[in-house]
Amino acid sequence: MDKDNAVTRRQFFAAASAGAAALAAPPRGRAGTGPGSASVPAILGGRPVRTAPFPRWPNFRDKDEQAVMPVLRSGVWSRAKTVEEAERRFARLMGARYCLATSNGTNAIITAVRALDIGAGDEVITTPYTFVASVHPILLANALPVFVDVDAATWQIDPAKIEARINRNTVAILPVHIVGGICDMDRINAIAKKHGLKVIEDACEAHNGEWKNRKVGTLGDLGCFSFQTGKSLTCGEGGAILGDDGKLMDRCYSFHNLGRPHGSVAAPGGEGHPLLATKCRMAEYQASILMTQMEAFEDECRRRSENAAYLTERISQIPGIIPRKDYPEVTRTAFYYYGFRYKKDRFDGLSRAKFIAALAAEGIPASSGLGVIEGKPMNKEGCIEDAFRSKTYQRIYSREKLAAYREENECPECDRLVEETVGFHQRMLLGTRRDMDDICDAIAKIHENRHKLISEGPAPARN
Ligand SMILES: Cc1ncc(COP(=O)(O)O)c(C=O)c1O
Repeated sequence: MDKDNAVTRRQFFAAASAGAAALAAPPRGRAGTGPGSASVPAILGGRPVRTAPFPRWPNFRDKDEQAVMPVLRSGVWSRAKTVEEAERRFARLMGARYCLATSNGTNAIITAVRALDIGAGDEVITTPYTFVASVHPILLANALPVFVDVDAATWQIDPAKIEARINRNTVAILPVHIVGGICDMDRINAIAKKHGLKVIEDACEAHNGEWKNRKVGTLGDLGCFSFQTGKSLTCGEGGAILGDDGKLMDRCYSFHNLGRPHGSVAAPGGEGHPLLATKCRMAEYQASILMTQMEAFEDECRRRSENAAYLTERISQIPGIIPRKDYPEVTRTAFYYYGFRYKKDRFDGLSRAKFIAALAAEGIPASSGLGVIEGKPMNKEGCIEDAFRSKTYQRIYSREKLAAYREENECPECDRLVEETVGFHQRMLLGTRRDMDDICDAIAKIHENRHKLISEGPAPARN
């Protein structure tokens, strides 16, 4: 495979966060060479659709600097008033009663799992189409992640398949609003209520998404967010938990602060460490950047939505391109990625890897592993077997239980989705209408030239 055009997930993120034009633009001096025609794919030497980079992310502004410098000069860098203020603002923005800031989204989920006392022998229902950080917290609690297949159109956990996986060990559902789409929270909450289960929303990819005009992250018992660099609201690294139950949020607070007393989590004499815990507090300088980033957040979300709607209208017309859909109750999509299925049979067999390489050469960086590490569904990730081999799991779960788990651990719809997904990072949706046209034109150009790309293009690395 032509190395310049092979886009791994790591390279894609590097380009996404640095705003590097390296992947967005083909090598200099190549534009207009070869057969010299814009109708010849750039990967075969034609003129690329574009050479200009897409908008940078994260979006650094003078305001960030103005906000962070006084914090740095103050000498108060550990959690204090700035973090508290950021929590108040994020809670207000999302319409939640309480917010707890954390060091990242992974630790937000770990904290939520722990605060709900999920542990050995428990089963937590979740989706296989997610990032590994949705699953690690379940395994770290010595519980079993039970994977329920996805809905083909929306890519979210399929609520129709949840009840079949509930048994007397099931304690919670952990829906993940993946790539910025929104899960069917009405059905998930109804199932949870019927079976007495807790709901932890993983909203790490879905800031500002709405279900019937209510923000995601406020629809279950606890909602977890990530403010990692690539996310649509970021402070580099950071996370948050939203909740309405004061006592539960006190447990979250105490857990994230070494188990020190907090509110209803009391210790004899008011001191000591009544909870077994860890420490995952947000720092003051992170919170200051988070707040300035919040100022631009609403406008950025609006722009992404407008561009995504336009993109969907145009690219749906290209054979073999099927954008992800939303449930009718979704009043706002969040867009961490803009995702679509690539149907290679409609491109006469042009592999997805070649399609992505050809897009990169046209100046359009795309990724196949949306929210899923290296395109591997989570039910097939090595960390599960690693946990099962551990002394702890061997003691908690019988050999028969783990064998039955492996047998039931199949999600064919997700397997298909992982094979077919292609998408663009949210920063690209911050571009202009013209940028969106470039994306559509590049895809259309590849479709038109699919035969040339199959016969003359470089060999793909895989699929
Ligand atoms: C779905 C999902 N869950 C959890 C996380 C973990 O967030 P963080 O990277 O802030 O730890 C992420 C972020 O990468 C994510 O995409």
